Amino acid sequence: MEQIEKLREALLYSPDNVTLRKLLAEQLATHGYYEEAAVEYKIILKQEPDSKDVVVAFAQCYYKTGNYSMASVILESHLDKFNGYVPLLVLYTRVLLAEGNIQKAIEAYQSVLDAEPNFRDDELDRTLRVGNKLEFDEFEDDNIFVERPDISFADIGGMENVKKEIDLKIIAPMKFPELYAAYGKKAGGGILLYGPPGCGKTYLAKATAGQINSKFISVGISDILDMWIGNSEKNLHDIFETARRNKPCVLFFDEIDALGASRSDMRQTAGKQTINQFLSELDGLSSNNDDILVLGATNAPWHLDHAFRRPGRFDRIIFVSPPDEKSREEIFKIHLKGKPVENISFTNLAMMTDKFSGADIKAVIDQAIEEKLTEAMITGIPKPLTNKDIGRSVKKHVPTTQEWFTRARNYALYSNEAGQYDDILNYLKLKK
Ligand SMILES: Nc1ncnc2c1ncn2[C@@H]1O[C@H](COP(=O)(O)OP(=O)(O)OP(=O)(O)O)[C@@H](O)[C@H]1O
Ligand SMILES: [Mg+2]
Repeated sequence: MEQIEKLREALLYSPDNVTLRKLLAEQLATHGYYEEAAVEYKIILKQEPDSKDVVVAFAQCYYKTGNYSMASVILESHLDKFNGYVPLLVLYTRVLLAEGNIQKAIEAYQSVLDAEPNFRDDELDRTLRVGNKLEFDEFEDDNIFVERPDISFADIGGMENVKKEIDLKIIAPMKFPELYAAYGKKAGGGILLYGPPGCGKTYLAKATAGQINSKFISVGISDILDMWIGNSEKNLHDIFETARRNKPCVLFFDEIDALGASRSDMRQTAGKQTINQFLSELDGLSSNNDDILVLGATNAPWHLDHAFRRPGRFDRIIFVSPPDEKSREEIFKIHLKGKPVENISFTNLAMMTDKFSGADIKAVIDQAIEEKLTEAMITGIPKPLTNKDIGRSVKKHVPTTQEWFTRARNYALYSNEAGQYDDILNYLKLKK
């Protein structure tokens, strides 16, 4: 808000500064002031009628407010001029879809794919099943997303033990099945990751798929629980079928605790039937030695039944802790890569961020960049990000991992029969 005011003020002094006005329009749109943003974009277009991205941003403002006819008028009048410009075609496709003009939307989407054959968009892929350029007639369920991640283990700071475990337990058996068979070891069985929020569970699952160049299917368990009896089972079955059709793939189940004992804090809980269906699908996979790697994640492993841990199911459970100092250094490096920086001491930043999760670190960097950007736009002088800038942002940020430990601590202390939560105790230095 403050930024918007500052930008407006700066524009009073230099009304012809297009860069400033673009930034103002962007800020307005980001904060949901689409109508005001449209006013600014209109002015910019008078000055720069050939700016493709401004035309798209202008139309986007109308799309966002539900004024689809205005959006399509703007886009259509630029279709020829910006022939083959993908962002414009994509937005045009969305507008047509929103208007309910499916036939034209399919044609528009086809022109997106003609211009950029590798283009993927979950929503458009699911709704506009055109031709056979895409693999989407394979997925029928709206809650299933098949992706091809472009991140790998190299994009993940720390987590060495987890990476190693995934490598040994699920990647290697897939790469060298004969070798494992020779030692009488079977591939199969999944890994369950648990720990505080933002420490990279989901990210790592995705990177695992990228690491082996496979597809990635991510399923939020609570999304597939259905209030109709029998539907949750069908949803689950569809997901495993989708995985079988998309081999090799990493099949990732998020919030797996939603399959746990009935809980008052869940939107819906799974019945016995659903849980059994899930377990038997898992057993089916592992007996087939399939090219499907199963990973799961949860913040609340204590809600899961012991049946989940049997061999061939989630027989490895790994604690994903907040990153240690060395890992935090790596995470800073990863997220600052390619950004304009100066005088950065990664060791110093790592030291300052005890208890911060990977997500906290990313948030801190984003915040620092945003401030730098506003400053640069107002002074007109872009300056690199310094240690001081990030340090300031660190001080304002409260790490988000601690609340989880207050709960986890109790489970680890009082229901740790098989020592399954020893890792938490070790982390909290409570282990006797
Ligand atoms: N080890 C890491 N290296 C690099 N980035 C990380 C790391 N951990 C977290 N991040 C960043 O934080 C973001 C959030 O992480 P992620 O969604 O994987 O957390 P999570 O453990 O699944 O959290 P939740 O329990 O809330 O689902 C990631 O998208 C990534 O940008
Ligand atoms: Mg997650």
